[in-house]
Amino acid sequence: MTNKGLLWGKTAIITGGGSGIGEASAMRFAREGAAVVVADIRRHKSDIVVSEIEARGGVAIAVEVDVADEASVSAMVDACVDRFGSLDVLFNNAGTLRPGTAVDLDTADWDLVMAVNVRSVFLGAKFAVPHMRKRGGGSIVNTASISGLHGDGRAVVYAASKGAVINLTRALSTDHAPEGIRVNAICPGTIATPPVQRMMANPDAVEVNLRAHSLGRIGQPAEIANAAVWLASDEASFVTGEAIVVDGGLRAQSPLGVMGDPRPGR
Ligand SMILES: NC(=O)c1ccc[n+]([C@@H]2O[C@H](COP(=O)([O-])OP(=O)(O)OC[C@H]3O[C@@H](n4cnc5c(N)ncnc54)[C@H](O)[C@@H]3O)[C@@H](O)[C@H]2O)c1
Repeated sequence: MTNKGLLWGKTAIITGGGSGIGEASAMRFAREGAAVVVADIRRHKSDIVVSEIEARGGVAIAVEVDVADEASVSAMVDACVDRFGSLDVLFNNAGTLRPGTAVDLDTADWDLVMAVNVRSVFLGAKFAVPHMRKRGGGSIVNTASISGLHGDGRAVVYAASKGAVINLTRALSTDHAPEGIRVNAICPGTIATPPVQRMMANPDAVEVNLRAHSLGRIGQPAEIANAAVWLASDEASFVTGEAIVVDGGLRAQSPLGVMGDPRPGR
């Protein structure tokens, strides 16, 4: 018996594919047999990921995209269909963050984060769904965050945007279920991607993050790719409208620690 991979014969677009979670997912999707469009606003990053995929015998192309821009997202989807003939999976993963409270955050920052994190998911669906319909189905996966499930401090627009991604996921799943298109979100805890690694240069951030996750560590990009590949695959054929939490136990534990026997440092 030959193992052809979970995504054998499928075509997939991964936005933000040039770095972090998107890069790990592009590598994994290709390993599982998908033809991958590595889409990123930083074209040179996508080119590097495509070279790595090709070096391992996979199939991929790099596309420059601004996920906040309608014409750019339309062109990204066209590039996939022109090159590979179809579109089965869209991983809306690109995102951005501007820290701040409502008082100190600029309105321009609000608009940027909402456009990159939320409008992108709407645009992705707008242009991907018609092609998925032609195939009789498909899978859309959106990267939300645990920040969309609770109120992180000084993250007013990021938290709002990720909460919106979660409910947009539900709404899209309802609209497109009759067409065989599943739509799900992933809510990662803290994951060791380049922006987080920069944050972890601060020892206080390291301590807070290790304590916040029950498993005593932050996650790796490949651990989110594991969830993405499953949601994208037919293994998740009865899963739609869900926001799957992959957070090392961050959300499960109480900030009070263990009752009557507080663990040191908790
Ligand atoms: N790392 C974490 O701890 C964490 C936790 C929860 C959610 N997330 C989410 O995961 C996703 C990926 O983040 P990451 O941590 O891998 O970051 P990253 O910076 O490593 O990767 C993000 C990629 O998105 C690209 N990008 C940014 N704006 C874009 C745009 N307008 N159009 C196209 N591409 C654009 C960047 O160039 C970059 O390559 C984001 O949606 C982020 O909000 C990350």
